[in-house]
Amino acid sequence: MTRTVYLNGSWLAEADAKVSIFDRGFLFADAIYEVTGVVGGKLLEYVGHAARLKRSTAELGIACPLTDEELLAVHREIVRRNDLDEGLIYLQISRGAAYRDFAFPTDATPTLVLFTQAKAVLDNPKVKTGISVALVPDQRWARRDIKTVQLLFPSMAKMQAASVGADDAWLVEGGFVTEASSATSHIISKDGTLITRGLSNAILHGITRLSVLDIARSAGLAVEERAFTPDEAKNAAEAFITSATSFVLPVTSIDGQPVGDGKPGPLTLKLRELYIESRLAAAI
Ligand code: PDD
Repeated sequence: MTRTVYLNGSWLAEADAKVSIFDRGFLFADAIYEVTGVVGGKLLEYVGHAARLKRSTAELGIACPLTDEELLAVHREIVRRNDLDEGLIYLQISRGAAYRDFAFPTDATPTLVLFTQAKAVLDNPKVKTGISVALVPDQRWARRDIKTVQLLFPSMAKMQAASVGADDAWLVEGGFVTEASSATSHIISKDGTLITRGLSNAILHGITRLSVLDIARSAGLAVEERAFTPDEAKNAAEAFITSATSFVLPVTSIDGQPVGDGKPGPLTLKLRELYIESRLAAAI
């Protein structure tokens, strides 16, 4: 199926959407992105994604060409035009095309692109088995709180994980887990405490993370926001990742060692259920 995509105010067939070779997103990875989940044709966690987009673009001094209302309208329209029931919306804003120079241009017009990808996000077969992760040194840049399109290292880490038969990488820096290649990492200790890294420049401030922590606290789970080591993770009762497209997904092995009994953990599965229920109810 040919998708209809959004490019700088126009709705185009995907093959007709063209961006300049001088675009700084292409030449410098000078661009921000967001991924918003869609279920039943509705946007999940839209408010959080829109807020983080604003923060990321402000950090880099890129002006979003649309108002908040226009941006929401474009998200809704792209779902409608593509008849998207379940999947995701990818949005990217680059600083735009300019004479190639390391200094930011003052006169560039930002490039705004949105496209959809259909994907069965609810019915994920990995929920039943959990995923395996391999520990990989975190060699990304130091501003991981900004959601830039510099995704080469996460891609390399994912390939490194795949080369040892693992589904994903958990990145490690200074003896502590930072996050997964494209998701937030969490563990549940044997005494039932959810442990997840605190917010800083070391990790992306996950929108799903925030909601899951709220849900966990409301369900009476103790939550500790602190860094944890790979050994702590391997000896945890449960482990999981969160993201806009995986929701809450069990991790059942770390570097070949089973987590707990090697099966998806009961608290993890409960959090997934509660997360999906509450976010579907709040979808717009
Ligand atoms: N990734 N950490 C990293 C490095 C990520 O790339 C992501 C999201 C997350 C989770 O953030 P959120 O809960 O807001 O989706 C954490 C998206 C899904 C992606 O790159 O496709």
